[in-house]
Amino acid sequence: MSTPSKPVIGILGGSGLYQIDGLKDVTWKKVSSPFGEPSDELCFGTLEGHQVVFLPRHGRGHRVSPSDINYRANIDVLKRSGVTDLLSLSAVGSLREDLPPGTFVVTDQFIDRTFAREKSFFTTGMVAHVSMAKPVCSRLGDALVAACEGLGVTVKRGGTYLVMEGPQFSTLAESRMYRSWGCDVIGMTNMPEAKLAREAEICYATVAMVTDFDCWHPDHDAVTVDQVVSVLLGNAGKARGLVKNVVPLLGAHQGPCAKGCQNALDHALITSPEA
Ligand code: ADE
Repeated sequence: MSTPSKPVIGILGGSGLYQIDGLKDVTWKKVSSPFGEPSDELCFGTLEGHQVVFLPRHGRGHRVSPSDINYRANIDVLKRSGVTDLLSLSAVGSLREDLPPGTFVVTDQFIDRTFAREKSFFTTGMVAHVSMAKPVCSRLGDALVAACEGLGVTVKRGGTYLVMEGPQFSTLAESRMYRSWGCDVIGMTNMPEAKLAREAEICYATVAMVTDFDCWHPDHDAVTVDQVVSVLLGNAGKARGLVKNVVPLLGAHQGPCAKGCQNALDHALITSPEA
């Protein structure tokens, strides 16, 4: 697969993030996929001269629930649009006292507990087993942390994101179990997104934006919807600043990613083209 010399930065926006500030030459375009309907049209534009492609993960107006997102179509249309570097922005619950609402976590591991989603592009007559040992591109992770620090946003580098099926939140027993597993945050969307990005040989990293303490926390029951919405809106504002800061950092990169994400299939067991 040929690697373009200039990066194209993809943004998958989660709850509260439906537009990118400062984007120029904006066009929303429908891109078709053989895997079905993506969540929405793609928004193409440039930010300080760097090519950006934005896709609201739940669709504009937040229409698509986590289990109904066509993750394969979303990643496929981003790949077809030339995206090399994909940043995922997602609302999460916190599983740790020291990660209060408003904190951003640049996670580096996932535990995938989803069960009702298509998780691979390799299903019919083609077999590939990509490595997911390190699911996040650390080059993108470095840039995200630097961009958060530049904005003065409280950020934690590293952490494990438990991906649950939803759409209901966890039971208390589940929440406690995930904490006992050492998980840091919980959300509903980053799997199979990260797996599919790896299969598509796209660099992927995520910013998990804490909106609430999950139900394990003694204060959980006292939290009102208004409080959650106000944290969500605050996080979305910070996320828009983060995108503005991180795009120039990634846009300056030349050539293929040294971390090997863009050659993930070279090391996968894959059906022989001659077979
Ligand atoms: N997204 C935001 N908060 C969440 C939580 N507590 N559990 C799962 N997904 C979430």
